[in-house]
Amino acid sequence: METYTDTKHHIQLHDLLFVTLFSEKQVQERVQELGAALTLKYRDKNPLFVSILSGAFVFAADLMRAFDGNCTVGFVKLASYSGTQSTGKVQTVMGLENDLEGRHIIVVEDIVDSGRTLHFFLRHLREQKPASICTVAFLRKPDSLEFPVDVEYVGFDIDNRFVVGYGLDYDGLGRNLAGVYQLQE
Ligand code: IMP
Ligand code: MG
Repeated sequence: METYTDTKHHIQLHDLLFVTLFSEKQVQERVQELGAALTLKYRDKNPLFVSILSGAFVFAADLMRAFDGNCTVGFVKLASYSGTQSTGKVQTVMGLENDLEGRHIIVVEDIVDSGRTLHFFLRHLREQKPASICTVAFLRKPDSLEFPVDVEYVGFDIDNRFVVGYGLDYDGLGRNLAGVYQLQE
């Protein structure tokens, strides 16, 4: 990975201290690249961006606007996390209202950790006969992967440490940070 000279910022959320991992500029540059890649593939396909709430709402909003072409958006709420530890269960708290049959689906996830959330959700999506499905994850923790999932587009691969910012939270806080911050060890 490149070395960055950006100033490191420390922030405290609840009882924990976090330090800059990616600046706002790095995040925005990468999101533009992902949007350009999706435009090449989906420009004339009117894709449906499916944003997994709550964490992916910030990434999905920027990614959609980096996409140059007609598209629609839908939201689904899945829950598997409490604090900094996965609870091991995935629940659909809010389902999709869109008809998926024949649509080109772009699943937008904030972070793939164990892969449990996506594995569960992609299986559910396939049953609804879309024309195609691809997944875009802003972040991925390759060393944590326990469930087989194909993620076609990844913003950044990171190590196992807990992160916040750009939609990601620690017990509700941190979603509004423009950069990404990693738990200080
Ligand atoms: P998975 O099902 O284990 O892949 O976990 C995916 C979900 O857990 C993500 O959509 C996030 O909401 C949450 N998550 C995983 N790692 C982190 C993290 O480092 N910070 C904040 N949330 C996380
Ligand atoms: Mg999430």
